[in-house]
Amino acid sequence: MKTIAFYDAKPYDRQYFNAANDDRFHFRFFESKLNADTVALADGADAVCAFVNDDISEKVLDKLVDLGIHIVAMRCAGYNNVDIKSAYRRVHVVHVPAYSPYAVAEHTIGLLLALNRKLHRAYNRTREHNFSLDGLIGMDLYGKTIGIIGTGRIGRVFANICKGFGMRVVAYDPYPTPDANFAYVSVDELCRISDVISLHCPLTKDTYHIINEESIAKMKHGVYLINTSRGSLIDSQALMAGLKSGKIGGAGLDVYEEESDFFYEDFSNRVLQDDRLAALISMPNVILTSHQAFFTKEAMNAIATTTLNNLCQYFNGEPLPNEICYRCANSTCNKTKNMRCF
Ligand code: NAI
Repeated sequence: MKTIAFYDAKPYDRQYFNAANDDRFHFRFFESKLNADTVALADGADAVCAFVNDDISEKVLDKLVDLGIHIVAMRCAGYNNVDIKSAYRRVHVVHVPAYSPYAVAEHTIGLLLALNRKLHRAYNRTREHNFSLDGLIGMDLYGKTIGIIGTGRIGRVFANICKGFGMRVVAYDPYPTPDANFAYVSVDELCRISDVISLHCPLTKDTYHIINEESIAKMKHGVYLINTSRGSLIDSQALMAGLKSGKIGGAGLDVYEEESDFFYEDFSNRVLQDDRLAALISMPNVILTSHQAFFTKEAMNAIATTTLNNLCQYFNGEPLPNEICYRCANSTCNKTKNMRCF
């Protein structure tokens, strides 16, 4: 029986992976995140299962190869934390491309609704028996323009939800969907005309800090910014400046640039060492959740089932439809011919 080493494993990972296992694999769960200091824990395992804040750099991949491990199964969609160029021809990388776009899109609209109608503040007020409405005024979303950056699986589900609210949807994506029921515009135009901007593109070298001082300057005064994609899409220093000046009217963030040292851990008994994160959390017009947009029962079931199927396919020598490599993007990838990236 093959052994899988899970990093950054929480009780809910154990629960859903144990339920999906069907006695196919032996699991070793580690609370530590994967990095150069912890990779040795995988000694004796046949595969590694990693998550969004693990560090799968060249150094870690070198060590995995030394340990005889040639597969990393990402139990998530994004893989910006994997050096896929360095993994090529050495370590297969599989992921879960679409477990529930609804989970993420629904969390995104949840952040927007809470931010706009100040539900987080109203909840605290009524608990204190303060029934005043001062400062809680929102706006109708109906008729407002929402700009969606990235119209893949999640972006399109989110666009449909926004349409249901009667919002005007515009989008930017270098690879537009041909049958889209919304208009594509340039990023500049999207920034200029949107009342709300929501990010749904992957983190790549092209999208790193796609929201920065310059793009914020082009936005409407009081724009709402929502990010459930990856923290480094937004320059957090520029975000802070925009929030302080009022240019950005509010931010709903499920991700944060420097989240990896904090998210998924309990710091409630300690002083937070990231001043910018502490400042963001303290702002009344910022709602921050801890990278939880994916976290529904349906998504966890799908993540566990697909990840274990990916591993079965690898160990059985079968095609790997969910494999990724740096050549997939420029269509020189071998997967079309050989059913595996290498
Ligand atoms: P997808 O691959 O279906 O769609 C991504 C879209 O972004 C594609 O249409 C692509 O053409 C577009 N894109 C690529 N480069 C772009 C650029 N420079 N500017 C604008 N758009 C660009 O991915 P999916 O499933 O919709 O996920 C999107 C992202 O959501 C993931 O990359 C991940 O970072 C994030 N995510 C966050 C989760 C959370 O729990 N907060 C859970 C799952 C995904």
